[in-house]
Amino acid sequence: MKYGFSQRVRYLKSSAVRDILKVVNKGDVISFAGGLPDEGLFPVEAVSQAFQKAITSDNKALQYGETEGVLELRERLVERMARKGIRRHPDNVLVTSGSQQAIDLFSRVMFNPGDVILTENPTYLAALQVFESYETRVVAVDSDDEGMIEEDLEKKIASLKPKCIYVVPTYSNPGGKVWSLDRRKKLLKLAKKYHVVIFEDDPYGDLQFDKEAAPPPIASLDNNEIVLYTSTFSKTVVPAMRIGWIVGPHQIIRIMAQAKQATDLHTNSVSQHALVHLLNDFDLDGHIQLIRNTYLERMHVMKDLLDKVKGTDLSYITPKGGMFFWVNMPSYVNTTELLSTAVDQGVAFVPGSPFYVSNPEENTMRLNFTNSTPELIQIGMERLVNVIEQSQYETVR
Ligand SMILES: Cc1ncc(COP(=O)(O)O)c(C=O)c1O
Repeated sequence: MKYGFSQRVRYLKSSAVRDILKVVNKGDVISFAGGLPDEGLFPVEAVSQAFQKAITSDNKALQYGETEGVLELRERLVERMARKGIRRHPDNVLVTSGSQQAIDLFSRVMFNPGDVILTENPTYLAALQVFESYETRVVAVDSDDEGMIEEDLEKKIASLKPKCIYVVPTYSNPGGKVWSLDRRKKLLKLAKKYHVVIFEDDPYGDLQFDKEAAPPPIASLDNNEIVLYTSTFSKTVVPAMRIGWIVGPHQIIRIMAQAKQATDLHTNSVSQHALVHLLNDFDLDGHIQLIRNTYLERMHVMKDLLDKVKGTDLSYITPKGGMFFWVNMPSYVNTTELLSTAVDQGVAFVPGSPFYVSNPEENTMRLNFTNSTPELIQIGMERLVNVIEQSQYETVR
């Protein structure tokens, strides 16, 4: 049978990361590939009590709910965002099924085929998947360790007239980088000058290692005019609850809520009510501190082993938070080719090239340090270091 799919299907791509995960989640492979939090840290008891309470306290949690999200949850989100300097009204918040849905709904209401979106290079793969599915043109802006470079950004805004600038400025995925305050301000200034919306994706902001926190979110520097800000409980509570949110100018949020209505009516009510109970009854901030300490220790274990690679000139930024190392190998290494040898040796990573919008650097890789215990990181990294050193030997030979 020949099925008559829509034209749009041509632009749907499978995620390279998910494809790799299917291969590596077998046997004795230690995987640094996924972007997963550690299930060992899930607050199982608190989540279970919160769901129990949601289901038994009244029947609202089992009923259809408002598309915008449970009001009490939006109020709690407003309080939490205010602590980061993002001062908004609950009416400007839309609760979504993870921040992934926020990216999708935003794209659905904003982009026509051919519209230009500016991003960093590399950037979050699943956002690229969404943008491409709406037949947009994604263009990379030159960046360095501090964020997008102003000159290139202004040149591209002026010549390409983008609809939106998508950024992950705090402990980015995949780059593990933090934008400086100066670059955040410059981005905002240019976006205002040329009337371009900024989409700030911040799933990792709470996972900071440094006592000195990252600069404030870009949304906190804006008066709800031009920045849409999305975040999630996937990295701090559990991803399976699928609770994220987006806050931004009311006109955009209102239209996104209409699009959400057509998509799934509302985000899972049980999860939303459970989250309200969790936020009321559980010390989430204390729990986040535990996650930070655990991930910081793991980051150091991985860093020490990365530093042990001999004779290979690799470089990386030491993450100040988040979940990833982004490693630049010498230019002769092709990490996609290296992956199959690595998997044969019992360790996996994600090659960097799928994260690029253009001009992929084939010698890059992303390593996740949050989903393995220090003991497994030790064993996995020893395997990886061997694979890297062996590849160098083979190239030289
Ligand atoms: C940069 C970024 N944005 C959005 C998401 C989506 O998160 P969720 O849909 O679980 O909230 C992720 C998940 O890894 C991410 O890394």
